[in-house]
Amino acid sequence: MPALRCAVLTPDGRGRLRWFPDGLLAFGADGHIEYCGPFSGAGKLKSGAVSRRGLLAIPGLVDAHCHLPQYPAVAADGLTLLPWLKRHIFPLERNFRGPQARATARMFFSDMAASGTTAACVYTSIWKDSTETCFEEADKSGLRIAMGKVMMDQGSYDAAFKGSASARRDRSLAESDELCRKWHRRDHGRLLYAFTPRFALSCSMELMTRAGELAARRGALVQTHLAENRDELAAVKSKFPGSAHYTDVYGKAGLLGRRSIFAHAIWLSDPEVRALAESGCTLAHCPTSNAFLGSGIMDVPRLEKAGVALALGSDVAAGPSLDLFGVMRESVYLQRVASAHRLFKHAERFGPGRAFAMATLGGARALGLEDKIGTLERGKEADFALLDRRGFEPSCAPAAGGDGVLARLVYRGGRDCVRETYVRGRKVWRA
Ligand code: GUN
Ligand code: ZN
Repeated sequence: MPALRCAVLTPDGRGRLRWFPDGLLAFGADGHIEYCGPFSGAGKLKSGAVSRRGLLAIPGLVDAHCHLPQYPAVAADGLTLLPWLKRHIFPLERNFRGPQARATARMFFSDMAASGTTAACVYTSIWKDSTETCFEEADKSGLRIAMGKVMMDQGSYDAAFKGSASARRDRSLAESDELCRKWHRRDHGRLLYAFTPRFALSCSMELMTRAGELAARRGALVQTHLAENRDELAAVKSKFPGSAHYTDVYGKAGLLGRRSIFAHAIWLSDPEVRALAESGCTLAHCPTSNAFLGSGIMDVPRLEKAGVALALGSDVAAGPSLDLFGVMRESVYLQRVASAHRLFKHAERFGPGRAFAMATLGGARALGLEDKIGTLERGKEADFALLDRRGFEPSCAPAAGGDGVLARLVYRGGRDCVRETYVRGRKVWRA
């Protein structure tokens, strides 16, 4: 049985930090963790351990929101959400086909694994053929990927589909369902399908409602965008005058639920926060993207107080990098700035511990996998990254406890520290 002697830093099932400076992580051939704890308490497992001292094991990071076809458009600067989509994103997604799409998918998953990310919830484009390509590459990558074809029937490059609006809608639903039946729960659940109505501005109520029905029938995930930008908010209000607010549009479509992930969720009223908390959905917090597009700052204390589940997303390509260490860092910085400017009613010192829990356990919950991944504990699947501590801890720094090591990791860590990445105990990437 593989057993690694290294430091281990992980949240427990309630998000509290556990720290084993001289630890052991052992997992069986089936990829399940047999032991994770202090080396001294590992009994017989100690004798077969491979020494990886100097390295630190953390749970694989989970990117709860990103767009694969957009990868070539990272750092396309200077615009806010709606003009940025129109200028940089829709043309790119419209052309996302053929060998170029495969090359992009390969690079996307390889960069993800190289950043210590083991699981993600991914958008593709409207095309079924290139979504197939993305699933094939996700399968080959060994990563744990939930993914879906973008669904749209109005207001965007959906017109690339020939035919009337209702023909486009039917085609989008039929193709999404075919992809779901083919890929959902592949490789014992390593691949998952996420029905992906893009956002309220590019979907009719009928498309969203029927997408929600299909997702419920298949036991699949749902992902979309919510309340990211104030111009978007105004446009949704005028498009759906019968809805009380943006969240209500998705509520009327039946999209609020435990298996739904809503990205951004910045501009919310109190009734929306209550509705989101009651639904049990997850919000994907995307701080690097929110800063890049100037969308705003998520009121994390209010959402946490209301009991809304939160995960972290890179939102590539509005977020400039797949590296979730940078996303964790940005989440802390933005909350600190918001707090200094007294932007939010509820004061809470948001720090590296919360960011780390959101990027691990929070992401696992978003994917419905909190019993399988998100922490390093006996019985869970061995999805983890091995990091070189020299990459984020200066040798002149005194030894630190778990909180101190985590702070160095969040404020100084990044892709350069990642030495190896594992999913179900299988190495999927090495430096
Ligand atoms: N809202 C609708 N589509 C998108 C997208 O592709 N990126 C972001 N950041 N927001 C969106
Ligand atoms: Zn997005």
